[in-house]
Amino acid sequence: MDKLIINGPTRLMGEVTISGAKNAAVAIIPAVILSDEVCRLENVPDISDTKIVIEILLKLGAIVNRINKNTIEIDPRPIRTTTVPHSLAKRMRASYYLIGALLGKFNKARVSMPGGCDLGIRPIDLHIKGFEALGAEVKTENAMIDCKAVNLIGRPVYLDMVSVGATVNIMLAAVKAYGLTVIENAAKEPHIVDLANFLNSMGADIRGAGTDIIKIYGVPRLGGVTYSIIPDQIEAGTYMVAAAATRGNVLIKNVIPKHLESITAKLEEIGAIVEEYDDAVRVIGAEEYTKCNIKTMPHPGFPTDMQPQFGVLLSMAKGTSIISENIWGNRFKYLDEVRRMGVMAVADGQVAVFEGSCKLTGAPVAATDLRAGAAMIIAAMAAEGRSEIENIYHVERGYEDIVSKLNAMGADITRVSVDDRPVNTVKAELA
Ligand code: EPZ
Repeated sequence: MDKLIINGPTRLMGEVTISGAKNAAVAIIPAVILSDEVCRLENVPDISDTKIVIEILLKLGAIVNRINKNTIEIDPRPIRTTTVPHSLAKRMRASYYLIGALLGKFNKARVSMPGGCDLGIRPIDLHIKGFEALGAEVKTENAMIDCKAVNLIGRPVYLDMVSVGATVNIMLAAVKAYGLTVIENAAKEPHIVDLANFLNSMGADIRGAGTDIIKIYGVPRLGGVTYSIIPDQIEAGTYMVAAAATRGNVLIKNVIPKHLESITAKLEEIGAIVEEYDDAVRVIGAEEYTKCNIKTMPHPGFPTDMQPQFGVLLSMAKGTSIISENIWGNRFKYLDEVRRMGVMAVADGQVAVFEGSCKLTGAPVAATDLRAGAAMIIAAMAAEGRSEIENIYHVERGYEDIVSKLNAMGADITRVSVDDRPVNTVKAELA
């Protein structure tokens, strides 16, 4: 288990290139199962979540050729099993996308229930509602979700809550079903649109992705394709907030500015400068920020996956800020950790109040999930002194090369394994 040693304060200066979107990749890689030919995926982020889903496809029998760090070719034709055991499924939350993909391709799927998460309860009732609407029989026994259908028939499915996962899974199951499936109250995140674009490039007929009504006209066959995954909206937003929190000046390259609108709006509201270019944004930090309130909402509202990072930034603003977390029931756990660095904030259920003008100081903390871990890295770079961040495996689920990307902009971050220290650190202590 590794940890990060971070010495602050740092002023991030320079530029960073954003990798492919994690939440698009973990949906698009399983979607390859639906193809009858080889697919080549480019701009795949080299993170543990994508490595795990690729490993699952290999264990199912697919052939995967890694062309380079961010490009893979997948041939799903040798896949013969439709069962994903707990030993594989437990390793990541989005393993449940295998249900939609296997059901959509083979009319059956048997996948272990996904693991819990630090965000609160994470039901999948809407996913199951969608599968059943299409005619699948779904049983849950021994923590395995068992779906089977004689045929999948397109139907309207109304999602009483906006759900990224349910929208993805229903699309995957419906894309080869007979007739028209309509997903009402669908999620509109950029990764939903990216998945629809990928499936359509394979020959699917999906219309309306990015709106709350998605129509899927079933097709008999999906072909092979070369496809490049969109840049990661949340990775980009994380570096934008890091630039603001360290009062730096950073050019964030390979982004789609429209995906960042809600983050840009909030940064400008508190006093940071954001310059937009065709495929980049520049964030220039200010010496002083004013408070603001945030309500996390489904896209295009302020993303819940940016909430911890912004919470740390608001703790440094003048005045009291309030964050309402409207997506997850338990996404303020990170406050227990960042309080040790001087963040003064109190959460009551899904609302947290952040006292402003906090002077952050280095401290040992432990990441509780990947976005909380990113927030702790931001706090440690803005803080005076030395911080240690344990459980960085959480962060590496979703941020490709985060240490080298930040150090290239002037951060002072060393990765050490918990049970020993690299020679350079020992020498430094002796110096
Ligand atoms: C996706 O999770 C993301 N993960 C999450 O990002 C993100 O926080 C979330 O969407 C919201 O944007 C991936 O894309 C792999 P939901 P997902 O279904 O699909 C409730 C990160 O940091 N709900 O949109 O699991 C649910 O409890 C991760 O990258 C049901 O009630 O989220 C939540 O309150 C963390 N029943 C709300 O809907 C269901 O069947 C939204 O969840 C499904 C969801």
